[in-house]
Formats: sequence, structure tokens, C-alpha cells
Amino acid sequence: MVKEAKKELIRLRNVSKFYYMGDSVVRALDGVDLKVYMGEFVAIMGPSGSGKSTAMNLVGSLDVPTHGAVYLDGHDISTLEESDLAQIRGKKIGFIFQSFNLIANLTTAENVMLPMMFQGEDIDVRRDKAEEVLKLVDLDNRMDHYPGELSGGQRQRVAIARSLANDPEVILADEPTGNLDTKSGGNVMEFLEKMNKEGKTIIMVTHDPDLAEKYADVVYWLRDGVLEKVTKRVGRKFVDVTKKVKKAATNGKKVVKKKVKRKRGK
Ligand SMILES: Nc1ncnc2c1ncn2[C@@H]1O[C@H](COP(=O)(O)OP(=O)(O)OP(=O)(O)O)[C@@H](O)[C@H]1O
Ligand SMILES: [Mg+2]
Repeated sequence: MVKEAKKELIRLRNVSKFYYMGDSVVRALDGVDLKVYMGEFVAIMGPSGSGKSTAMNLVGSLDVPTHGAVYLDGHDISTLEESDLAQIRGKKIGFIFQSFNLIANLTTAENVMLPMMFQGEDIDVRRDKAEEVLKLVDLDNRMDHYPGELSGGQRQRVAIARSLANDPEVILADEPTGNLDTKSGGNVMEFLEKMNKEGKTIIMVTHDPDLAEKYADVVYWLRDGVLEKVTKRVGRKFVDVTKKVKKAATNGKKVVKKKVKRKRGK
């Protein structure tokens, strides 16, 4: 498929996320460079605990890095106020979380309407749009059910519908098929692929290499918080572009890693 000229949307530059636990440091991410261009389908791959969800939270500016910078549309997000950031995030990015994050005491329709409420949409617009996106995932017949009254696959689809509520440019999906059977998982992937063809940027976290290479244009492979390799689709094959990505990230300079100082009393 031929993609439009590339416009950089999200960039992590030498990003680390460390958690200080008593005397030890958990390096959830350690010096990762990642670029997402508009209209791309990007997969973040790696085994359990490798830092995928951490990376996704940083890509979606839900979290801030310990070191390094995150750019959204070329702006360093650390320079933005949280309230502005929340607005941009709410409008631009739709999230499908690993654990769905549906609110138990809100109905299907209300869960989908929630992100629109934060954007200040009218109740009628919210209701119509909720119905529209729930129709897309074939759940407009479950508008008034609570999450506890839905199957796992249906909950996943509500989470997908909610991610589409504000017509985001970018959809971030953390293991969107992780809890589903093969058929439901296939439907979710076809849906994400369709959204991508219609111009949305998709960033999908998965531990399944087959899934990553079936759908993505670029795959970032994490291991123990470090970028192990980057592969890119060229025609039908994937080629290793790790060296190129690392060189571009550092402008050819060698990166000297700083030692992590142990924080006392934390
Ligand atoms: N709040 C936290 N405090 C301390 N350590 C954390 C925290 N969040 C994550 N970690 C650690 O950071 C590492 C990366 O976690 P992350 O959730 O990003 O992994 P993941 O690749 O998404 O794994 P999975 O495939 O199991 O979802 C793990 O070792 C985890 O234990
Ligand atoms: Mg995870």
C-alpha cells in the first residue's frame, strides 16, 4: 500500500522510565528511540515485562519519562501544562487499554460517551456518536448493558468503540486481542486494519510476532526495557533497520549512558 509523504506525529528521544523500589531500580525502559509517522501502523513487540505498556503510556503522553524527551506534533510535551495536554490527548488519541478500563457502574453507551464529555460535547451529540461507533463494533444492541453484563470480547469491543469516540488521529491499542479467541481477535485486527486504511495512525502493543508482522508497517522490538531491533516492511518482507534508526536518533554520535544513582529514602 502506498502511504502519503511522512509527517512525524510522535517521537520518543532517548527515553527512560525508571522505578525506584527501596534500594533497587527497575529500568522499565532504558534509552529508547521511537518515531511514529502519520498514517503508519506501528507495533511494539516484546515478551512480558519488556516495557511495552510503559512505552505505550509514554507514546500516549499518559506518563512522563524519567529521562529523555517525548514530542507530540513536534512539541516537547514536558513544556505543556497538564490541562492542555489532557485536551490534546483527549482529542487526538484514542486508547484501548490492556485491561479495557471500562467503568463498572456506567453502561456501554455511557462508557463510550465519557471521553466526549471531557471534550465538552453536547449530550445529544454524545448519544448519537456512541450509537454510531457501537454500531461499527456490532454492539449497538448492548447500549444499556453494564460491563459486568458483557462477555470479555464484547468488553474489548466497547473499549474499541470508546477509543473512537472523539475521532482521534491516533489509536493506541495495548494487546487488543490478548483476551480474545482467535475469531474475535481476527475481527478486532481487521477493524484496526480498516481504520488504518482510512487514515488513522495505529500503535499496537503485542507479544505476538506473527500478529505484529502481519499488520504493522514498522515493528519496535523491546527486551528488558531496551530497543533490541526495529524492522520495517519493504514490499512483502521485513528488513532490519535498527542501525539506521539508532544512527538517526543520535545524529551519528555515540551515546554514553549515565549511571543511575540510587535515591536514598525513596
Ligand atoms: N508502577 C511500577 N512500579 C514499579 N515497576 C513497574 C511499574 N510499572 C511497571 N513496572 C515494571 O516495569 C517493567 C515493564 O512493565 P510493562 O508493564 O511495561 O511490561 P509489558 O511489556 O507491558 O508486559 P506485559 O506483556 O506483561 O503486559 C516490568 O518489569 C514491571 O514490573
Ligand atoms: Mg503490558
